[in-house]
Amino acid sequence: EETSLAICTSPTPISCHEPHLFGMAFTLEERQQLNIHGLLPPCFLGQDAQVYTILQNFERLTCDLDRYMLLMSLQDRNEKLFYKVLASDIEKFMPIVYTPTVGLACQQYGLAFRRPRGLFISIHDRGHIATMLKSWPESVIKAIVVTDGERILGLGDLGCYGMGIPVGKLALYTACGGVKPYQCLPVMLDVGTDNETLLKDPLYIGLRHKRIRGQAYDDLLDEFMEAVTERYGMNCLIQFEDFANANAFRLLNKYRNKYCTFNDDIQGTASVAVAGLLAALRITKNKLSDHTVLFQGAGEAALGIANLVLMAMEKEGLSKDAAIKRIWLVDSKGLVVKGRASLTHEKQRFAHEHREMKNLEDIVKDIKPSVLIGVAAIGGAFTPQILKDMAALNKHPIIFALSNPTSKAECTAEQCYKYTEGRGIFASGSPFDPVTLPSGKTLYPGQGNNSYVFPGVALGVISCGMRHIDENVFLTTAEVLYSKLFKFNNLEGRLYPPLVTIQDVSLKIAVRLAEEAYRKNTASTYPQPKDLEAFIRSQVYSTDYNSFVADSYTWPEEAMKVKL
Ligand SMILES: *[C@@H]1O[C@H](CO)[C@@H](O)[C@H](O)[C@H]1NC(C)=O
Ligand SMILES: *[C@@H]1O[C@H](CO)[C@@H](O)[C@H](O)[C@H]1NC(C)=O
Repeated sequence: EETSLAICTSPTPISCHEPHLFGMAFTLEERQQLNIHGLLPPCFLGQDAQVYTILQNFERLTCDLDRYMLLMSLQDRNEKLFYKVLASDIEKFMPIVYTPTVGLACQQYGLAFRRPRGLFISIHDRGHIATMLKSWPESVIKAIVVTDGERILGLGDLGCYGMGIPVGKLALYTACGGVKPYQCLPVMLDVGTDNETLLKDPLYIGLRHKRIRGQAYDDLLDEFMEAVTERYGMNCLIQFEDFANANAFRLLNKYRNKYCTFNDDIQGTASVAVAGLLAALRITKNKLSDHTVLFQGAGEAALGIANLVLMAMEKEGLSKDAAIKRIWLVDSKGLVVKGRASLTHEKQRFAHEHREMKNLEDIVKDIKPSVLIGVAAIGGAFTPQILKDMAALNKHPIIFALSNPTSKAECTAEQCYKYTEGRGIFASGSPFDPVTLPSGKTLYPGQGNNSYVFPGVALGVISCGMRHIDENVFLTTAEVLYSKLFKFNNLEGRLYPPLVTIQDVSLKIAVRLAEEAYRKNTASTYPQPKDLEAFIRSQVYSTDYNSFVADSYTWPEEAMKVKL
């Protein structure tokens, strides 16, 4: 494998040195012009035949990490084909290019690492970030996903190995949202790692010292944000990904009104959860503000959801104070109540007058929630007793077990349906199979998956050149996602549209966000397109090959046909 710095963001990746793949798609005329006629077998393989070849190779592999590596090397070699393959079966490939396999790949990134992809900026590069950005070959970048690797998925501090996440996430920006891959830039801010395993790992690719924090860290981030907007403009989207809890909130609050930025772990998760809640109201037949919501967890995801639920309740007409009273948090120390020790500023907001309580079963009995949301990655936290109590308290208890992976889910879909006698409304973070009840009825557990949200948000923000991404964007996104559900006849238990419709969902989200941005004057792409949907469609990345020969002549049809 090559080790040279290969940057594969070209809009028309044409590699004459890899004639076996893209090469077979070259027309006769293209082959002649490139002087490679005769270096390829005479057959012409269309892109569909190439997709078929990749799928066959993919199926032959037995381990997901190998499949990940197959796809990553395809991404390096032939970007258009890579995205064509992903789009051919997004449900099959998402678990490979993104969670859970990407986590596995990050843990062994030293092994999986072939070619560098993205920009690596270290804490020792302070003062030089602007120059480094200049070495990136693309001058138009519209979306950046940046991480410092401190809290990768549920895996902890993976340092520079965390680069797999921005790379994978941006692949989904393109595969699910149609954002042009050459306008995307993955960035690793390497400030060191506190992970002893990595510091001793001979294959580790990052800085071999402890994380540098404090002023130096903040300066690095400030400089990065400034350098990016200096080079790519104020409306370059900068998505923060997998930062540790404290930094994630701090940086979001610091930059949200100054830059075009969002944090998917906080805001994307919130949007998808609120979409699920709105969908659940269809079954409970009341308003969100009629509910009492209890969170098991008080981290990024919990607080993100809590804040958005608060907004949604206010939008229904409830006052802020009354809405806050309907939201309760439980963290590792128990119920979050006024006067309790170790409460951060974010948690403080939802701390109510109440006695201190520790045990979740007791808390559920006492608070009597109608909605229970698990986001603390404590597998099995929703015990049979809790589920039974929720069913006793509510006709249709809403149970969201959002922690990933499956082993960390607060309860399974089956447990939820079993202990609530099929009355529970369930959504999870990780996918669960449909459950057939003793009555013979089959229910489809909802999967509250961020992939419904961030690609559409990115496409919308980029298309209209939005300057800031305020919280309303995520409430609107939740509403669009919820409304898309109704196109499907069989709603049994479903809270989200099927994942296969994701490209369509993303487009609809983008159009709605752009409409709102023009109405509220937060768009910067002018003149305003007359037909926003047509305009956004025209922005979407195409996986078809561009011919670089204006007028290619071809062999007879039958000589070129491939039967699949
Ligand atoms: C979202 O769905 C995809 C496809 O099923 C899956 O690979 C991924 O793990 C899900 N995301 C999470 C966070 O569970
Ligand atoms: C340290 O890194 C290893 C290897 O990548 C990973 O499996 C582990 O979860 C990390 N540990 C912590 C505490 O972050």
